[in-house]
Amino acid sequence: MSLRAPRAGRGPTFAAAAAGLAVVAVLAAADRIDAAEAILAAAFVAFVTVIALMTAQRAVERHEAFLSVTAERANEPPPYPTLINALPDPVLVISATEPDDLTSRRYIFANSAARDLLRIELGEGLLVSAIRDPHVLHAVDEALFHGQDAEAVYETPGVQERILRAYARPLGLALDGRRLAILVFRDETEFHRVERTRVDFLANASHELRTPLASLSGFIETLRGHAKEDPGARERFLGIMQTQAERMRRLIDDLLSLSRIELNEHIAPSERVDLAAAVMDVVDAVAPLAHERGVTLDTKLPLRGALVIGDRDQLVQVVQNLVDNALKYSADGGVVRIAVEAGLSAEGAAAPRQPEGARLALLTPDLPQGPYAALTVRDEGPGIAREKLPRLTERFYRVEGQKSGERSGTGLGLAIVKHIANRHRGGLAVESGEGRGTTFTAYFPQAPAAAKAAPPAAVAKLS
Ligand SMILES: Nc1ncnc2c1ncn2[C@@H]1O[C@H](COP(=O)(O)OP(=O)(O)O)[C@@H](O)[C@H]1O
Ligand SMILES: [Mg+2]
Repeated sequence: MSLRAPRAGRGPTFAAAAAGLAVVAVLAAADRIDAAEAILAAAFVAFVTVIALMTAQRAVERHEAFLSVTAERANEPPPYPTLINALPDPVLVISATEPDDLTSRRYIFANSAARDLLRIELGEGLLVSAIRDPHVLHAVDEALFHGQDAEAVYETPGVQERILRAYARPLGLALDGRRLAILVFRDETEFHRVERTRVDFLANASHELRTPLASLSGFIETLRGHAKEDPGARERFLGIMQTQAERMRRLIDDLLSLSRIELNEHIAPSERVDLAAAVMDVVDAVAPLAHERGVTLDTKLPLRGALVIGDRDQLVQVVQNLVDNALKYSADGGVVRIAVEAGLSAEGAAAPRQPEGARLALLTPDLPQGPYAALTVRDEGPGIAREKLPRLTERFYRVEGQKSGERSGTGLGLAIVKHIANRHRGGLAVESGEGRGTTFTAYFPQAPAAAKAAPPAAVAKLS
């Protein structure tokens, strides 16, 4: 938008002056006035013209000045309290007079985030009634009475603990001589949670790896010592060592796989993969083991398959982990039912499939956008107690006291399944109860039907 004023009045002024001069010239030419009168008249016209031009110029200048003041105002920020109130971080302005008198420290302004955090009302108040933490109070004093920047960690009381860092900064003196400081909080709860998870994970992973390693070292020592001359013992020990080495390999494979999935978790996959075909591959692979245990694998797949937007290897991993678990926890001679359904809504995909027991959504898509294809794996094993369900996808979590046969797991399988489902923008649910068997359902957004080939004419036009 242009802020310049129109050149008000110049055009008409010049037109009027020209008309006046023309009239004077015509009158002089027709000898109706003499030369002296003509000069006088022309001078009068010129005088009036200059006055008119000057007036117009003044009007223009006034208009421009008005516009520029308005523009300046338009760019002025709203008043500071309004701005500070809108900040997401808690902010307090604190005033004090006496270092020795705790009650002289008052908060004179608290933004809305600070009022929520400290549960205080709008307006002023005693600082100690809002914040009791001695470290934060000390940091405030540093800013108020020593002019120093200071900070402290502040943990909120209550069940939902939050960890914040409080920054105190001096603001100098108020007009009435009171000392002023600002106190700003930054929420670091999430940072601490992530850090905690990382440390726990490292500790758990090291512990899990150390157990088979300790057993391996132990048997090496035994083989070098008293089992040296005992071929029977040697064979037995080598067998155990192999099992332990395989366990270590499985752990490392799962750990690597989990970290790779997490690395790419924010990038949704884009291939079109048939979930039913992935199920068939896994079923073929585990069939010999199932046969050995007398477990029947009952599969129910849609005739036309179920195309999802996915990463084939990762989808196979999901099927593999769920089917492995079902087999592992099935009694010999049991039945494992594996089904794929396509064209489900978000509610349909997450709907219960097992009549008895508790149900828990372990993962729900942020933006449910169907249709979904769902994989359901159901077993008749021991089931899982309701209170254990929420922990199933934690890394290294294993329900205690369960017999999982020889192939003891890593406790990472369901964590992997959850992360893969999340990367696929899908969901995961479990239904189980002690003695009731277990059903896991993982669902994934379906791929849209393949676009029809464009008619040749359109292709010709495009190229
Ligand atoms: N089908 C199932 N039936 C009973 N318990 C199960 C089943 N699937 C998983 N669990 C429990 O959940 C735990 C975690 O599973 P998972 O992450 O696959 O680890 P893993 O199979 O390596 O032990 C298992 O240790 C087991 O206690
Ligand atoms: Mg497993």
